[in-house]
Amino acid sequence: MSPWWRGAVVYQVYVRSFLDGDGDGVGDLAGLTAGLDAVARLGVDAVWLTPVYRSPQADHGYDVADHRDIDPLFGDLAAFDAFLAEAHERGLRVLMDLVPNHVSDQHPWFVAARAGGPERELFHIRSRPTGWRSMFGGPAWSPLPDGDWYLHLFAPEQPDLNWAHPVVRADFADTLRFWLGRGVDGFRVDVAGGLAKDPAYGEVRPGVPHPHWDRDEVHDIYRSWRHVLGDAPAVAEAWGPPERTAAFARADELGQAFAFDVLRTPWSAAALRRTVDAQLAAHRAVGALPAWVAGNHDIARVATRLGPERALALHLFLLALPGAFYLYAGDELGLPDADVPPERWQDPQSLRSGGQLPNRDGARVPLPWTSGPGAGFTTGTPWLPVPATWPEYARERQETDPASAWSVLHRALAARRWLWTSEDLSWEDARPGVLVGRRGDALVALNTSSRPWRLPPGTAVVARSGAGADPTIVTPAECAWLTDGPVRFAA
Ligand code: GLC
Repeated sequence: MSPWWRGAVVYQVYVRSFLDGDGDGVGDLAGLTAGLDAVARLGVDAVWLTPVYRSPQADHGYDVADHRDIDPLFGDLAAFDAFLAEAHERGLRVLMDLVPNHVSDQHPWFVAARAGGPERELFHIRSRPTGWRSMFGGPAWSPLPDGDWYLHLFAPEQPDLNWAHPVVRADFADTLRFWLGRGVDGFRVDVAGGLAKDPAYGEVRPGVPHPHWDRDEVHDIYRSWRHVLGDAPAVAEAWGPPERTAAFARADELGQAFAFDVLRTPWSAAALRRTVDAQLAAHRAVGALPAWVAGNHDIARVATRLGPERALALHLFLLALPGAFYLYAGDELGLPDADVPPERWQDPQSLRSGGQLPNRDGARVPLPWTSGPGAGFTTGTPWLPVPATWPEYARERQETDPASAWSVLHRALAARRWLWTSEDLSWEDARPGVLVGRRGDALVALNTSSRPWRLPPGTAVVARSGAGADPTIVTPAECAWLTDGPVRFAA
């Protein structure tokens, strides 16, 4: 039998923005626990929570000062255990976000390294910087008090760990054991392709392996984790060509990797088909299936990138493919990116690049629950301003409106469990602009063209992303799930 995660729907919770339990304006574990009924109602299989470890929050938790404790902003270990128990009670699995590439500059190791201790070996410290650039803009090296330089591929508050050092490896194995021992079901691995660095610290040059991205040695690290993980899944955050990405999903490594290139694929049946084929082929070659994704906390929301109709259609299309799907919390409400004014920016990526790099705050704004004060998210002041128009997206309102984005996804998630049983996918003949995939007697039809598409005779609609006044037609910007076999229950 295939493991639970291979075809799972995982709900990505940006914890700061999900639900605030204590009124300080920042989402937390108490809020997340209180919101679990809503997560379960939607019909997902698992929850991935963004980092809640002890952290000064220079990159909103992706700067970890203690991997085995909870930041007081979010609660404590008891609150975590309570959350985990309540999630499991509702049949939801839980994935933690593991941040192995770097730590906080407040992590005890870096504090000691800065003071000149032997912990310096656990980081990348040199007497001269290279030309490497930080992902958040500017140089990737900053000076230490003694005049040496340390590497940070992200903010200066996020020094990179030296994974060539056995102490780093042993410590992370302990961290994995710690959370698995508490009952966690798996992990999302942040910056999975960044851990191995060129020992010679060469410059970035065409034709030679990149000095710090996606080096082959990184896979040794994940092979060593597999012995600790047992059957637990982990999903790699690794941007790259399909074959390189799928390598992280090998059975003796993490098991799963995000198929990010969907996010860069234009709204075209032919282009989407190419992306899906390339990802499926690369993953199948290593015995895996892709982790499909339409959005996350690092990019503009899909409803803004594509518009609301296409966004919902893309969700149904990806949910119909063999593999897992990671749903970014708020996308089930069809939320657009919020327009966060520069004086309220919190994202180090835009603050550090002076607005040159995209602002990620717009996709991280607290979720609207009700049309009441604070959108039902908080009794205090939300950490990012919630737009005045957002009550119209409120979860409470959408759950009772059969035409809402939430209801479309809710129906689809229920149907997904019985409809998409085969792991095969083949494409049917259809006219240009329409993509029709078959898995057993189930069909997915995505209409990227500007003309309606008539269903083949003998098929029935099981779920659809649009209003669907005419049951024999898939309208432009719509995705429909069809069957020419038995229907267990119709939408
Ligand atoms: C990943 C995270 C992102 C974070 C970065 C540094 O890309 O998704 O939010 O800023 O890693 O940890």
